[in-house]
Amino acid sequence: KLDNDQERILTGITTTGTPHLGNYVGAIRPAINASKTEGVASYFFLADFHALIKCQDPEVVHESTKEIAATWLALGLDPSNVVFYRQSDIPEIPQLSWYLTCIAPKGLMNRAHAYKDALQKNIDTDEDNDFGIALGLFSYPVLMAADILMFNATKVPVGKDQIQHIEMTRDIAQRFNYLYGNQFSMPEAVVDDRVSILQGLDGRKMSKSYGNTIPLFLPEKQLKKHINKIKTNLLEPGEPKDTETSTVFQIWKAFASQEQLAYMHNEFQNGISWGDAKRQLFELINDELKEPRDRYYKLLESPDYIESILFEGAIKAREYSVPFLEKINKSIGLYPLGKTKFD
Ligand code: TRP
Repeated sequence: KLDNDQERILTGITTTGTPHLGNYVGAIRPAINASKTEGVASYFFLADFHALIKCQDPEVVHESTKEIAATWLALGLDPSNVVFYRQSDIPEIPQLSWYLTCIAPKGLMNRAHAYKDALQKNIDTDEDNDFGIALGLFSYPVLMAADILMFNATKVPVGKDQIQHIEMTRDIAQRFNYLYGNQFSMPEAVVDDRVSILQGLDGRKMSKSYGNTIPLFLPEKQLKKHINKIKTNLLEPGEPKDTETSTVFQIWKAFASQEQLAYMHNEFQNGISWGDAKRQLFELINDELKEPRDRYYKLLESPDYIESILFEGAIKAREYSVPFLEKINKSIGLYPLGKTKFD
């Protein structure tokens, strides 16, 4: 039975590479927090179809799926509270993705940031406009729309860089609703306004593609090393430092309580040394991640356990997607001959 009055939170994480602090702060942590609210249905999934767009190394896709599943579980995702599944276990998603592809305006896709970036790169390097651009990259937002609409999500916790994709999802949903009757609710992006895009080691957005990340579950020593690599300026101890432009401060903010935030603000004005600030930043992050990190390494050694959780998750997810897709099939004219869509 489809209950569409309920608040439904959904988010996905692409299974390429190792999750980093930016993923944690921007997506995983807010999503897990939101899943603890009563009366909401939460859907969290491993976006392994999306991974195939970015990564054609089967080993990496496979390993990342395990790592990312283990990450969410280690960070306190409770599979009895949340529908936790792997995108490729839900055949209704690519099927819906095709339906949406049939009505999504190409011009809308032209405006997607990821595609535009790839295009711009080609222009800048005098390559053919289409060089190295797969159709999957171009239609990435449609697959994402299918992820969201398949479960009639109302709220989608994402990083700021994904807001555009949610807007496109609404555009596509609206067009579908206009053509085929109201099938989809309008999803809204939820962005953690404390810090949604974390800066990386070099001060740009923390991102796999910039190679400036701090992996989430680095062993302590390595975490310390990475934090020491965060770019700072040449101000000496005793000289007041600007919080606004400091990556150290910005990351601090993402982990700090109100008091800790005020405290570090003050320390910056008092000219804390970069070494000291980084040491304290390490302590702060490490305190939050210590226990999950231990759980994470244990989980990696139990892939069968992770698999059993995902198996259960797929069953729960399909309790929604199977009947919903059947309803959609009727709305677009795909139903048994000799029947009516009301049968
Ligand atoms: N595109 C998202 C990212 O790169 C991952 C994702 C895929 C997603 N499908 C989604 C996020 C659906 C939210 C909802 O971060």
